[in-house]
Amino acid sequence: MKELLKKIIRPYYHSVRYILTKLFLVSRAGIVQCFLPEIYRGEFAFFEKIRSQTYKDREYLSKRIRILTHLVDKTLTLRKKTNKSTMAKQVEEALRNFHDEKESDYIIRQWAEEVLGYYRGPQRENPVENSTLSPYAPDVILTAIKTRRSVRSYQSKKIEDAVLNKILEAGLWAPSGCNRQPIEYLVVNDVNDILLCQKYAGEYYSFPQEAAVNIVVLIDPRCYALPHQRHMAYLDGGAAIQNILLSAHSLGLGSCWMFWAKYDQAFNKKFNLPPWLLPVGLVCIGYTDKHPPIVPKRKSISDCIHDVRIKDNSK
Ligand SMILES: Cc1cc2nc3c(=O)[nH]c(=O)nc-3n(C[C@H](O)[C@H](O)[C@H](O)COP(=O)(O)O)c2cc1C
Repeated sequence: MKELLKKIIRPYYHSVRYILTKLFLVSRAGIVQCFLPEIYRGEFAFFEKIRSQTYKDREYLSKRIRILTHLVDKTLTLRKKTNKSTMAKQVEEALRNFHDEKESDYIIRQWAEEVLGYYRGPQRENPVENSTLSPYAPDVILTAIKTRRSVRSYQSKKIEDAVLNKILEAGLWAPSGCNRQPIEYLVVNDVNDILLCQKYAGEYYSFPQEAAVNIVVLIDPRCYALPHQRHMAYLDGGAAIQNILLSAHSLGLGSCWMFWAKYDQAFNKKFNLPPWLLPVGLVCIGYTDKHPPIVPKRKSISDCIHDVRIKDNSK
């Protein structure tokens, strides 16, 4: 009897499972929304809506290639050999159906092919050394971290495109969950545009208008479709912003990270942004001759650490 049931169900198993999952998700969305406090309902509805908006085919495929490639890539240096042949095959298949249109597509394809080549190639003892840093790096990096300040006074001098691109690129080199890369930018330099951004950011002082440029850091939350992953897109945004601030500092520029207080589609429409892009922060950047005179001190490590390390651990 059991075998007969299995035989009848098997051909329809995937369709039935698909329908049941969809039903579950729809009913859960409705139920969850009923119980949410008023202030969260709008946000929840937004996420439910964009979750159902699929990527254009090419964009979706590029995202899939990034995630799958990452899953193979991450096993390359594991001490315990892990079989990822199904995933590697999926990357190959996705690459076959993927036609490069943008510069980023070409870059992702190269990365994917490199990872596959490494994965399929003979076992190598030492991974290729491509992350060497100068012996002075610790000093330089820690000094950069500690001397970076939020600058709130700017000179009128413009920033060259080549310099600004270095800063924007540094933001893109920040880590992101599974290398999903949900970051995009809106770059503004017109005073009225900056004023509008400030309104959304909730910054009332005029210093962002003095700065040569303001960058709205946007996230694409579709990269993290599952509810328990949503916050990752915001974290990715924060990591990108920190890279932006530090690289601006390293290039002799001042910057200030500002909050983003308000979301609405009118902002996206005004700047022709797709509806799913969410601003998470505003950063103004410019040359300055007025550094903050006092360093805002930080808490001490001893007060911030919950240390449960085992003493004299021989590890
Ligand atoms: C999420 C976030 C939001 C911030 N929002 C603002 C802001 O709206 N306006 C502002 O002038 N500074 C803002 N700042 C900058 C902080 O005030 C500043 O980082 C902090 O006082 C420490 O000073 P420092 O950056 O010079 O070390 C923000 C920083 C962060 C991380």
